[in-house]
Amino acid sequence: MSTLDRIAEIQAQAEAAIAAAADSSSLEDVRVHYLGRKAELPLLLRSVGSLQPTERAAVGSAANQTRKQLEMLLGAREEELAHAGIGDPGSSIDITLPGSPPLPPGHLHLITETRRDIEDVFLGLGFQIAEGPEVEYVKYNFDALNTDPTHPSRARTDTFYVDDDTVLRVHTSPVQVRAMMAQPPPLYVIAPGRVYRPDNDATHTPQFHQVEGLAVDDGVTLADLKGTLLAVARQIFGSEREILLRPHFFPFTEPSVEVDVSCFNCDSGYLPGGDRCPLCKGSGWLEVLGAGMVDPNVFAYVADHGYDPDKVTGFAFGMGIERIAMLRHGIPDLRLYFENDMRFLRQFGAR
Ligand code: PHE
Repeated sequence: MSTLDRIAEIQAQAEAAIAAAADSSSLEDVRVHYLGRKAELPLLLRSVGSLQPTERAAVGSAANQTRKQLEMLLGAREEELAHAGIGDPGSSIDITLPGSPPLPPGHLHLITETRRDIEDVFLGLGFQIAEGPEVEYVKYNFDALNTDPTHPSRARTDTFYVDDDTVLRVHTSPVQVRAMMAQPPPLYVIAPGRVYRPDNDATHTPQFHQVEGLAVDDGVTLADLKGTLLAVARQIFGSEREILLRPHFFPFTEPSVEVDVSCFNCDSGYLPGGDRCPLCKGSGWLEVLGAGMVDPNVFAYVADHGYDPDKVTGFAFGMGIERIAMLRHGIPDLRLYFENDMRFLRQFGAR
């Protein structure tokens, strides 16, 4: 038999053996038998140099091709065996079963949903949305907002300080200052975002969310503030709502008010059966935000940007997003928002 015929014979035998190998260890035996160091084909390849010059090229290339072909077949059979069993009768994997149903897409967190609801209301009234940093300069968080260095809220027990000049903002009010520095009046902006205070109990978390509002124009009055907040309260809490302005104090507004919305859970504090309303605790009113007319000292800080305290007037307000959502949905404990308990979160965010 010629060497070329022998190579063809080896190839035929090896191909049959590869196809017959039933598992990877017998396949490995086949590989060693035909391509191992002492196997006939590799030996033949190594001895090509000692062949007659006329034979060398033909034998060399035939043997080489056979080796390549066998390596390829071994690899393919290896793959095949690795996936064997799947779909076989008796296999533990039944590929005819339908796949797991896809996970339902997630939904917005209640805080995000509430923030967007509030944004929609103000966008509808012609306000623009502004943003500011959560790590804020003391000068914008306090000084520009007419908050005296001795004001208790500036204490290290009441504010997270990053360094002497930098804090985690305690409210969204510094965005009032930044918005005025960025744009001359008329200015109608809201500024939603995270704020931070060192408190932690059922009604306070160290991080929470506010929406700031600021309107500055010629001749803006407290009546404009009241009308705006009434329209907002009715869109958020229902068209029957009334609002109540109570005198209050904030360093950056004068006069300042706290604003209550009439309780939507009861009639003047009492439920139809005569029980005291648990939501408003019998008062008929729910406190929702702080507000007031922008203090002229705040305008003085940004006078260079077109806010002459003798010319412009404006109103400002700030509301807590968590609080608005708590009232709307009867949520008893603020910490529920941030514990990521799916039993709580799944009840909201239908859209
Ligand atoms: N910044 C105030 C707070 O955090 C709320 C507020 C904003 C009051 C704007 C008046 C005007 O309590």
